[in-house]
Amino acid sequence: MQFSIVTLLAIAGAAVAAPSASVYAGTTKKNMIMMVSDGFGPASETLARAWVQQHDQYPPNYMSIIDKIMVGSSRTRSADSFVTDSAPGAVCFASGIKTYNNALGITTNYVPVGTNMEAAHRAGYKTGLVAKSYIADATPAAFASHAANRAMFDLISEQMAGLVPEIGQNVDLMFGGGRCTFIGNATKGSCRTDNKDLYPLMAKNGWTNIVNRTEFNALSATSKLPISGLFSIGNMPYSIDYPYNDVPSLQEMTKKALDILTEATKNSTQGFYIMIEGSRIDHAGHANDAGTHIREILEYWETVKIVSDYIDAHPETAMVSTSDHECGGLTLGRDNNYWLYPLVYTNQTKSQELACNELLAANITARGDLVTNVIVPKYLGKKNASPKVNAAILAANSTSECYLAMSAALSVDANLYWTSLGHTGVDVNVYAKGNNVTGIHGNMENTDIGNWITSYLGVDQAAVTSSIAKTNVFQYPFKRPNTTFVYTYPGTA
Ligand SMILES: *[C@@H]1O[C@H](CO)[C@@H](O)[C@H](O)[C@H]1NC(C)=O
Ligand SMILES: *[C@@H]1O[C@H](CO)[C@@H](O)[C@H](O)[C@H]1NC(C)=O
Ligand SMILES: *[C@@H]1O[C@H](CO)[C@@H](O)[C@H](O)[C@H]1NC(C)=O
Ligand SMILES: *[C@@H]1O[C@H](CO)[C@@H](O)[C@H](O)[C@H]1NC(C)=O
Ligand SMILES: *[C@@H]1O[C@H](CO)[C@@H](O)[C@H](O)[C@H]1NC(C)=O
Ligand SMILES: *[C@@H]1O[C@H](CO)[C@@H](O)[C@H](O)[C@H]1NC(C)=O
Ligand SMILES: *[C@@H]1O[C@H](CO)[C@@H](O)[C@H](O)[C@H]1NC(C)=O
Ligand SMILES: *[C@@H]1O[C@H](CO)[C@@H](O)[C@H](O)[C@H]1NC(C)=O
Ligand SMILES: [Zn+2]
Repeated sequence: MQFSIVTLLAIAGAAVAAPSASVYAGTTKKNMIMMVSDGFGPASETLARAWVQQHDQYPPNYMSIIDKIMVGSSRTRSADSFVTDSAPGAVCFASGIKTYNNALGITTNYVPVGTNMEAAHRAGYKTGLVAKSYIADATPAAFASHAANRAMFDLISEQMAGLVPEIGQNVDLMFGGGRCTFIGNATKGSCRTDNKDLYPLMAKNGWTNIVNRTEFNALSATSKLPISGLFSIGNMPYSIDYPYNDVPSLQEMTKKALDILTEATKNSTQGFYIMIEGSRIDHAGHANDAGTHIREILEYWETVKIVSDYIDAHPETAMVSTSDHECGGLTLGRDNNYWLYPLVYTNQTKSQELACNELLAANITARGDLVTNVIVPKYLGKKNASPKVNAAILAANSTSECYLAMSAALSVDANLYWTSLGHTGVDVNVYAKGNNVTGIHGNMENTDIGNWITSYLGVDQAAVTSSIAKTNVFQYPFKRPNTTFVYTYPGTA
């Protein structure tokens, strides 16, 4: 599904509304929707808002759907660094503890720690994970796996698929990308280091495993859990690239997941707990690709709109939306110029990722024509580019050189700047709506959010921690870098 202006208009509105944070006392049933906008810092929200304001000529007081439910901010550091990666970032939301960079579901001493999703599943909640990255990638993995390093994909996928007896099956629904970690290395596209196919083993345990849109469309609210739908071998495409693919969008996956989880918990006293990730807001930040970044954010807004409407119809539901960290070091304004022109990105039609793949795959003789006549005018949407801009892109030999050259081709015109191809350590915004979210406000630690979820759900995470103590968290021998020179604080091992 292509990003649609019509949908955007539908969610626009200039009215200032107070964040909704009522305490719902109707039943004891509770649903929890955790939304993670990966790599989405405050400047990214400002940029997306500015693009919409300029594009649709909205007034200065226009509020995006998330602006209306902003409740505070979160600090993002991990146990060993002021600049976190997504693994310990998500562990804060899933387990309420800080751990070292790259760690999943374990303490700084490699001891497995239970997650609120595992505890919720043991308490009878139905659980789900929806992401645009690999489903075994750091953010979704933090809710249902335990590994010394996020790169231990074989181990992580088996844990998430419920194939590791020490932790059992904790996830009822998985929608996203990254099928490659579920198929053995004898099959084309696999990214496992062994030849183990997880799908037949999951099927034996009752999973329905689907891989394409036809099968996705055939799912109904009454489809039986557990269900896995991994629609890409690697990441799901960027929103801007949906026209080149036919996979469900984040909105579609979210809607379907909510329908199925609602139906599956219809008769139960427990509700459901789902984590939904706008994973690739981060990837576009890593690529310094503002046009793609904006569209990933707009897609995330539309997904929040679906969740927000769901809460209006199901007041026993709470949602929290935040980011694990900022990505790209985005600044609005540069070179001592006092203006911003986000509309520069309106005519971009393809992500820098796909454009760079195409460029670097082309032979040297074909590249000049490709850059001048296709990539710059059509994909980046920049008419009348100077020979210097074209030459800079043509000179790129590597993906990161290509990203930087393409980024610069537009960011000078937009008067914005990226300071990094990676994460930064700034605080991020926190948004919340629904059942009993009054406790989420102000400047928080990232761990406060995970601990709030555990307390909201009323589940026993400590009991999970005791029961999973023997889980193997090493796929291969691993030694983490000594980063104590960066920062230590009392309690860090
Ligand atoms: C594929 O898996 C087999 C068996 O599990 C292993 O021996 C082999 O090294 C793997 N090959 C690659 C390229 O990872
Ligand atoms: C979807 O996947 C199913 C099962 O693998 C397969 O039979 C079917 O041909 C696929 N459909 C499309 C349109 O790719
Ligand atoms: C809920 O209860 C109704 C009536 O007993 C039953 O028909 C339905 O299958 C149940 N649904 C689920 C998901 O258990
Ligand atoms: C986008 O393309 C249209 C059609 O070519 C053009 O009229 C418009 O000025 C372009 N917008 C920007 C911001 O370059
Ligand atoms: C380079 O690519 C162009 C366009 O795809 C093709 O026409 C040409 O034959 C290729 N040249 C070589 C040397 O492979
Ligand atoms: C690209 O690679 C070639 C040869 O490997 C080298 O001569 C050239 O300087 C490189 N260009 C850039 C921009 O690094
Ligand atoms: C709201 O949450 C707090 C803990 O965050 C809890 O003590 C309280 O009982 C909850 N109230 C309702 C009505 O669920
Ligand atoms: C880690 O590095 C710091 C500073 O370089 C050093 O003081 C400390 O002993 C190192 N720790 C280990 C376990 O090597
Ligand atoms: Zn990242």
